[in-house]
Parts: sequence; C-alpha cells; structure tokens
Amino acid sequence: ASKSVKLNTGAEMPTVGLGTWKSKPGEVEHAVEYALKNGYIHVDTAAAYQNEKEVGEGIAASGVARGSIFLTTKLDNPDHKEPEAALESSLSNLGTDYLDLWLMHWPAPMTKDTPALADKTHDWLDTWKSMEKLYKAHPEKLRAIGVSNFSVEFLERLLAVAEVIPAVNQVEIHPSCPQEDVVELCAKHGIVVTAYSPLGSDNSPLLTHEIVKKLAAKYNVEPANILVSLQANKPNVTVLPKSVTNSRILTNKVIVDLTEEEMAELHTIDRTLHFRACHPEWTGWGSLGFPDCK
Ligand code: A2P
Repeated sequence: ASKSVKLNTGAEMPTVGLGTWKSKPGEVEHAVEYALKNGYIHVDTAAAYQNEKEVGEGIAASGVARGSIFLTTKLDNPDHKEPEAALESSLSNLGTDYLDLWLMHWPAPMTKDTPALADKTHDWLDTWKSMEKLYKAHPEKLRAIGVSNFSVEFLERLLAVAEVIPAVNQVEIHPSCPQEDVVELCAKHGIVVTAYSPLGSDNSPLLTHEIVKKLAAKYNVEPANILVSLQANKPNVTVLPKSVTNSRILTNKVIVDLTEEEMAELHTIDRTLHFRACHPEWTGWGSLGFPDCK
C-alpha cells in the first residue's frame, strides 16, 4: 500500500486508490471510511458521481488526517464555464480546504439542461486555461491539476498550448482496453496515467478469464489482484479499483510483482470484452478521439 508514483509537481501519488464511480451515496461513506481505516490513503471521486458529500463524510469518519490522504475530484461537464464556482462547491461538499488533484472530467463542455447537451459555444481548451489560472492563483486549494478521458488527439491539442502540463490523465484501462498509445504519450511528457475501471467495471468477464485465473492461482491471490497489479506494475500508472464491499476493498489493495512475460500475456486478452466508458456518445461530442469500441 505504500507504493507511489511521483507527479510532475514533485508530489507522491499513492499507486492504488479507492474508486467511487457508481458507489451510491448510501454505500460510499462506509466504503471510504473502511478503506482509510484499512490502509488506503488515496480516494478518487467526481462532482458527476454525486457522492462528494458522502466521500467527505467517510474521510471525516475514518479519523485519518486529511494531510495523509491523496484526494482527487473532477470538474463536471456542465461546469466548464464556471470552474471556480465548481471548485468551491467540490471543496465544500468534500469538507476540505484543498484537493491533491483536480481533473477536467471530460473534454466535453455541456449545457446545464436536463438532459445536458453538448455545449458547442465553449472550447474545453479555455476551460484548461481557467484551471491553470485557478491553480496558479490558489496553490493552497489546488496541489495539482490534470485531465481525464483524454485521447492522444486531445492531449496533443492541449500540450501544444498548455502552460501547466497536466499532472495526470485518468482513463479507462484494463486488458481489454489497454490504451497503449495514451500511456506512451503520457510517459513521454511526464504525465501520470490513472487507470479507472481496472477490473473491467461491473460484471466484468475479465475476472473469470483463463489467463487471469491462472496467474491468480500462481500467486495465490484473487483475479482482481492480477488486474490491479497489471496496472500498478507499470512505471507511470496509478490505479483505482472500485468497491463498496469490505472484503473486496481489503483484497484490492494487494499488489503482486508480475513478470514482463505475464504482463504481455495479459495484454493478449481479447479487446472486445470491454464496456468502453471513454466512448461517450452521450455527451453529444462523439468519440472524443478514442478509437471505436466493439
Ligand atoms: P462492488 O463495488 O459491489 O464490490 P472497476 O474497478 O473495474 O470499475 O470494477 C468495479 C466492479 O467490480 C464493481 O461491480 C465491484 O463490485 C466489483 N469488484 C470490486 N472488487 C472486486 C473483487 N475483488 N472481486 C470481484 N469483484 C470486484
């Protein structure tokens, strides 16, 4: 649990963090409290998950000092025009004075309508400029800024003009969605990649895949450990297994050292077995530069 990766700010980001996407308000407070009481020091949430308040309550209930925890949240799509207000709202919901990391959730500004629609009047690059300004003006509130769901095409557009290189790009990564091109480009620019849905999300066929089961038996761990370890073994990658189940929260923090051959074997797994969260037709912004999913 002590493994970490250095960000371009100099800060250490713990390699394994608790994911909270789809963790319901009624469950997530307990999951966060339990994780922090049992060795986790990294928690990831987002305004869009609508559970920041409960995540904050879980942190408070754990009794673990805020300064010992790496906390990430994200700017929601309908808030691209008002990032400062969104930041204040996240801080207040989480009950904290600062974020260790604040990410642009998607390069996809949306309207505040219900349902929200793509807001073609706003460029996400302007959102990044606002985030840079907030980061420079308020180092006491923002220890690092970054992005999420950025494909190579979008990263290249950002890197051509960014004054602050994102510390992190958080994307869906698991054997059926390895995104090697994104990982490689990020490594080249000193950007840490955070893998979300490392198990393949809900009802994942990866957990019963033969290669995963074989390696789990070899190391005497659960299939989930192999999938988390695959990401945690990469030099510039951190990983966010999500669970609201006590026993799984305990399981998922255990990393084993896989060999190069085993990592390569895991990457031979069929790439059609995934749900591809980073293909957000729902935003009205199309594929955002990610290749089509099957
Ligand atoms: P739950 O939260 O009910 O425990 P991912 O991290 O890829 O998004 O996957 C999350 C999904 O995997 C959730 O449905 C979660 O269920 C389940 N999960 C989390 N940890 C484990 C585990 N160790 N074994 C099996 N399923 C798990």
